[in-house]
Amino acid sequence: MTTAEATVDPEIVKDVHRQFVTGVTVVTTVDGDTPRGLAVNAFCSVSLEPPVVLVCVQATSASYPALFRSSHLAVNILAADQLPVLRVFAAKGHDKFASIDWEPGRHGSPIIGGCAAAIEVEIGERLQAGTHTVFIGHVIDARTRDADPLIYRAGEFLAPSGLTTITE
Ligand SMILES: Cc1cc2nc3c(=O)[nH]c(=O)nc-3n(C[C@H](O)[C@H](O)[C@H](O)COP(=O)(O)O)c2cc1C
Repeated sequence: MTTAEATVDPEIVKDVHRQFVTGVTVVTTVDGDTPRGLAVNAFCSVSLEPPVVLVCVQATSASYPALFRSSHLAVNILAADQLPVLRVFAAKGHDKFASIDWEPGRHGSPIIGGCAAAIEVEIGERLQAGTHTVFIGHVIDARTRDADPLIYRAGEFLAPSGLTTITE
C-alpha cells in the first residue's frame, strides 16, 4: 500500500463510489453440471476491437472457486424489472438457479431469461487485486433485448424511466 492510499479516509472513498452510477449484472459459470452465479456491478468494457471486458469478484464469494477454475463466464445485464433476480444472486444460496428462468449459453455459461443483455466471455487473465480477482476476457457471444436496464446508484435501484435526459 502506498502512503497516498493509506491516508485516504475510507468514508470519503465510499462517498466517491456512491457518486458513480452503474448497471447490475449476474456473472455466471458452470462447475461441472452445476450453475453458479453472483450479482456484480464491477463490470466494465475494456475495449471494443477486440471486444474485451472485465469483472471483479471477491475471493470469499461462494461462486469464486468455480469462476476461478472456469474457462468461460457469462455476464447477464439485468433489466429494470429484475430486482427479484438480483436479490437471489446478491445473497448466499446453495441452489440460486432453482427459482430462475435460465438456459446454457452457446459456450455453456448460464444465460438468465428476461435480461436486458447478456454476453459470454472466454476468460483470458485472472489478476489478483487484494480481496478481489479481476477476470478479463474476450466476448465470444452477445445478445440484447429491447428492455430497460436496472440502474444502481448509492445503494438504490432505479429504472431509466425515472431519470431525466440532459440536453446541451
Ligand atoms: C448491487 C450489488 C453489486 C455487487 N457487486 C459485486 C461485485 O462487483 N463483485 C463482488 O464480488 N460482489 C458483488 N456484490 C456482492 C455479491 O453479489 C454477494 O456477496 C453475493 O452474496 C455473493 O454470492 P456467493 O457468495 O454465493 O458467490 C454485489 C452485490 C450487490 C447487491
